[in-house]
Amino acid sequence: MKVLVLNGPNLNRLGKREPAIYGSQTLADLEGLCATTGKELGLEVDFRQTNHEGELLEWLHEAADNGYPVVLNAAAWTHTSVAVGDACAQLTAPLIEVHLSNVHKREAFRHHSYVSAHAVGVIAGLGAQGYVAALGFIAHR
Ligand code: DQA
Repeated sequence: MKVLVLNGPNLNRLGKREPAIYGSQTLADLEGLCATTGKELGLEVDFRQTNHEGELLEWLHEAADNGYPVVLNAAAWTHTSVAVGDACAQLTAPLIEVHLSNVHKREAFRHHSYVSAHAVGVIAGLGAQGYVAALGFIAHR
């Protein structure tokens, strides 16, 4: 089974970006962890990151058209983008929303998500292990 693991803006900066919040792991480390986890679980993990909202929308459309489950860290677009929410609404297989940090312990503007209403579940605050948990859920559901 193919799974898209989609990451939004600024996540390419992991490792350099606010390490007190996001840790020292890079995006490449996260991709490696997802690839290893996918192999263990028998999933084909397609891991992507973009700083361009339209590109994320097209990836979500691709997932909808092909019935791919999605693990989504939409980063700041989680809190701002009706368009990302509308694309998530079109998905035809399970969506898991993931955040590295616990957004509910942070600024109030991070407490609202346009993604959550369309997700089977939401994982926040477990760092990279949140991605592992999301892939495990998809494999075992
Ligand atoms: C994030 C949390 C968001 O609020 C923030 O804008 C991000 C990353 C996380 O993974 O903790 O860029 O999605």
